Amino acid sequence: MQSLRRVILPTRRQPAIHATIGSVMTHRHHERVLSWYSAHSRDLPWRRPDASPWAVLVSEVMLQQTPVARVLPAYQAWLERWPTPAALAGSPAGEAVRQWGRLGYPRRALRLHAIAGILVQRHGGQVPACHAELLDLPGIGSYTAAAVASFAFGQRHAVLDTNVRRVLARLISGTQVAGPAVSVAEARLAESLLPADPAVAARWSVAVMELGALVCTAARPRCTECPLAAECSWLRAGRPQAAPRRGGQRYTGTDRQCRGALLAVIREAHGPVSGPQLTAAWPEPARRSRALDGLVADGLVEAHADDMFSLPGV
Ligand code: ADE
Repeated sequence: MQSLRRVILPTRRQPAIHATIGSVMTHRHHERVLSWYSAHSRDLPWRRPDASPWAVLVSEVMLQQTPVARVLPAYQAWLERWPTPAALAGSPAGEAVRQWGRLGYPRRALRLHAIAGILVQRHGGQVPACHAELLDLPGIGSYTAAAVASFAFGQRHAVLDTNVRRVLARLISGTQVAGPAVSVAEARLAESLLPADPAVAARWSVAVMELGALVCTAARPRCTECPLAAECSWLRAGRPQAAPRRGGQRYTGTDRQCRGALLAVIREAHGPVSGPQLTAAWPEPARRSRALDGLVADGLVEAHADDMFSLPGV
């Protein structure tokens, strides 16, 4: 495993290195992770066999920036209301923003609404199985396209979310954290570790993700429970700690908090709300005005005559 360190460092010798990985990450290692997953994974609704591709796509968009526990009720409610792309496309965009509620980053609701429209217009109301077509949808980046292609359609793609990146960084390079963005070498490495059979590869991807969420956690990894402990470069190196990340994201008093407060008033009102109602939600004028302009510019709020505001199209 030690020689694999070079894989995620810049190198011109990728083919030889890939051959090394192939011989190290064996069928036996795959089996260990897959049996750990069978025994320990959470029963999450988007992982059940009856979850439609649309349900998987909705879950992945919600999970992009929101923890599982908060996504669960929002996911159920969303799919009860809009079980298909056509159902969502038939509602105004503002209803998607309202239904999104307090999940955070509400532009995702508008993107899901836009995606639903595109699926109806160009894909016969179905989620496409093709990775490139998924990538073409608004707000779908390489992670989400790979996740939907793998989890909804059983394809073989490297699915690199934060959890998977941490597991692989520790396992292979012995480092505590992966860098801020996925490098080409990291994506190649992840692909080279996938089992050959597409359906098994898809299960491996979700299994590694779950390993990162439950065992190989950022703060308190439970290495004694890890099916890959014997191969782990990070464990072998004595679990070296990375320098703590500086400056966590502050929320209180930010434009983001102000946008959330204003949007909550507009979302929960039964009709358009007036400027003075928004003043009550956020008294400080400069930030309020900037946040409101931002909400309108993003299409989350519609401005009407006489200083009135509503969700778009409702
Ligand atoms: N299962 C499938 N995709 C997931 C995700 N993004 N987060 C947590 N569990 C998942």
